[in-house]
Amino acid sequence: MNHFHERDDELWCEGVNLRALAGACGTPLYVYSHATLERHFAAFDTAFAGIPHLTCYAVKANSNIAVLGLLAGWGAGMDVVSGGELFRAVRAGTDPKKIVYAGVGKTEREIAEALRAGILMFNVESLEELEQIDRTAGSLGLRAPVALRVNPAIDPLTHKYIATGLKESKFGIEAGRILETYRAALKLGHLDVVGIHCHIGSQITQVGPFREAVEKIADLVRQVRGLGADLRYVDIGGGLGISYNQEEPPEPKHFSAEILPVLKSLEATIITEPGRVIVGNAGALITRVIYRKDTSAKSFLVVDAGMNDLIRPSLYGSFHRIVPLTRTAGAHRAMDVVGPICESGDFLAKDRELPAVPPGACVAVLSAGAYGFAMSSNYNSRPRAAEVLVREGSYSVIRERESYEDLVRGEGDAVALVFRAPDAR
Ligand code: LLP
Repeated sequence: MNHFHERDDELWCEGVNLRALAGACGTPLYVYSHATLERHFAAFDTAFAGIPHLTCYAVKANSNIAVLGLLAGWGAGMDVVSGGELFRAVRAGTDPKKIVYAGVGKTEREIAEALRAGILMFNVESLEELEQIDRTAGSLGLRAPVALRVNPAIDPLTHKYIATGLKESKFGIEAGRILETYRAALKLGHLDVVGIHCHIGSQITQVGPFREAVEKIADLVRQVRGLGADLRYVDIGGGLGISYNQEEPPEPKHFSAEILPVLKSLEATIITEPGRVIVGNAGALITRVIYRKDTSAKSFLVVDAGMNDLIRPSLYGSFHRIVPLTRTAGAHRAMDVVGPICESGDFLAKDRELPAVPPGACVAVLSAGAYGFAMSSNYNSRPRAAEVLVREGSYSVIRERESYEDLVRGEGDAVALVFRAPDAR
């Protein structure tokens, strides 16, 4: 359920006409619906209402500060994976005591920043990282709350690039080594061992893999408590999928119903890290047709958004529905929707049945709220798109379109290069 809908042959978002919005703000343009964000957060959060829980939104899915600010206001915590995400989460007003920090390559500087901020816990991905966190906490005179991230070796039945809990993944600590790593953690002097973490992948549309992971975790919780650790937090990660096309993922309440009995028995605060399920269908990318181009082999709709704006189709072969903002008469035929980037991999859709949308008209690429703008780049020196938040008939620009000056910021004057020797230490 989202708040993008058709009325009078045009596409609207919460009472805002998207053709008019594209005219006012330019394209490519990311548009997010406030009502959809609110609804999706509430649906997910209340699905766990029966037990002590904290919903830590995965900042990587959409890290716009306005989006984070709304979620923080609704009581969300945040799951961050870098110093930059921590900075955004705190800037947006998140209570640091609701922030969890995952990622296989936390640097000493990032660890220190998180310790100073006073986050809820680090989700630790190796023994080496655990030792680094202990050293950094010691040097700052602080204690570090930690959970160990278990790699449960479960196939989440999703695209291989976004499966994170397979045996060969870089993430987490192998289940077979987790107890010895907890033992090591309990011996380190500057750590508080408070939790356990697991995240098996993303865009998961079946409950089975989650149930399997939660059962493995529950088993480990008992064993780790047996070592004397006071595990208060069980973080089951994110990963619940959404419908891009024909998928039928479980609704949050059906998803939680399958795992709540096991989670309840653990007598811990359950942390979840949903990203896509909150923001994915709350956003669309609006792009304008530049040309229609026919070759003897194919028809192309050349639009002003490229793989730098939305990389999911190029990177994962992902499907995003594409609809004209104004209903277009005439027969549909198969065409590739492509961007202006100089790569054959630059496409938003392949062989898509669409009507003959004329140059100058716009289309909406739907379900683009998660991993859309967040993964965008300046490739081909293209300024990144603007982002707009719509709420009940009005809108607010929550990120300005980048300018050419933004593109060269920090590069200095091309003809006045200054060369310096690094400090020899
Ligand atoms: N927690 C951790 C530790 C994660 O690594 C992720 C996603 C999440 C939570 C949130 O997962 P979600 O609920 O959004 O599925 N760029 C890819 C998705 C990569 C996901 C990476 N980790 C895509 O566009 O499909």
